[in-house]
Amino acid sequence: MIPYPTATVFPPLPAGGLPLSDLQREVLALKQEKDAIILAHNYQCEDIQGIADFVGDSLGLAYKAAEAKNSTIVFCGVHFMAETALAALKAAQPDLYVVAYINCSAAVKALCDVIVTSGNASKIVNKVPADRPILFVPDQNLGQWVAKKTGRSMQLWPGNCYAHVQFTPAALLRAKAAHPGAPVVAHPECTEAVRDLADMVCSTELMVEWSRQQKADTLIVTTESGMIHRLRREVPNKTFVAAPTDRCACNECRFMKMNTLQKVRDCLKNGTPEITLPEAVRVAAEVPLRRMLEWSR
Ligand code: 13P
Repeated sequence: MIPYPTATVFPPLPAGGLPLSDLQREVLALKQEKDAIILAHNYQCEDIQGIADFVGDSLGLAYKAAEAKNSTIVFCGVHFMAETALAALKAAQPDLYVVAYINCSAAVKALCDVIVTSGNASKIVNKVPADRPILFVPDQNLGQWVAKKTGRSMQLWPGNCYAHVQFTPAALLRAKAAHPGAPVVAHPECTEAVRDLADMVCSTELMVEWSRQQKADTLIVTTESGMIHRLRREVPNKTFVAAPTDRCACNECRFMKMNTLQKVRDCLKNGTPEITLPEAVRVAAEVPLRRMLEWSR
């Protein structure tokens, strides 16, 4: 029988942090030359987070991107869950108020009324007109968590984040047994059974503040393990345990990890790959995004 993996343990960073590599220095020089700002999600690799101008959650990144004055924005996030049947559902139920998680394609955003992140979802849902039925897309676990918090019933699109749903109660219980007394934080994209075992369920941004407030030396983090790079940098003197799944010791999302420092260097150097959105999609997608930025202030 193959044994279950043991959780990966990240001790505090050495004093003074990690030294910069040659590639990181090259990227920093290019960044200056191109008047670029590098924005990275909390789940990005350590070497990308190490040279980013801002590392944050989806909400923080949205604000930074909207405010940036630089001529180039290098955005190290990922394309996430794109859904296509939304248009048909809206046609069948024209009254629906569609709330979309920010991690979806521009084409999906273009069909929505307002965008949310895990950091502001409850606040935004509370502002949706009371007489409108809500459809929450595309993450049903986040939607279920928000519905519970706000008391607002919502239709949930049956999608999820493949990485977060790999966490299981059994794997989390094993990690808790191996680290007795370590408080657990979990992301709302985890299943309800996993969320119910956590001491705190919150967005990645709030995980930083929550970790700072904990008296315990060791904390169990139940989300994409890139988060731990940010936590180690900003919350020194604590040991972070990456919650394992039944199959891996350190849950890395293969989509988040498609961004590499080499690719960041190459995109700064060559201005590629370029994505051009059809203007109609860009304009329509901007409406719910701007509404989110306004409503979450
Ligand atoms: P945040 O809203 O905390 O950035 O979460 C993003 C995420 O978990 C994507 O899967």
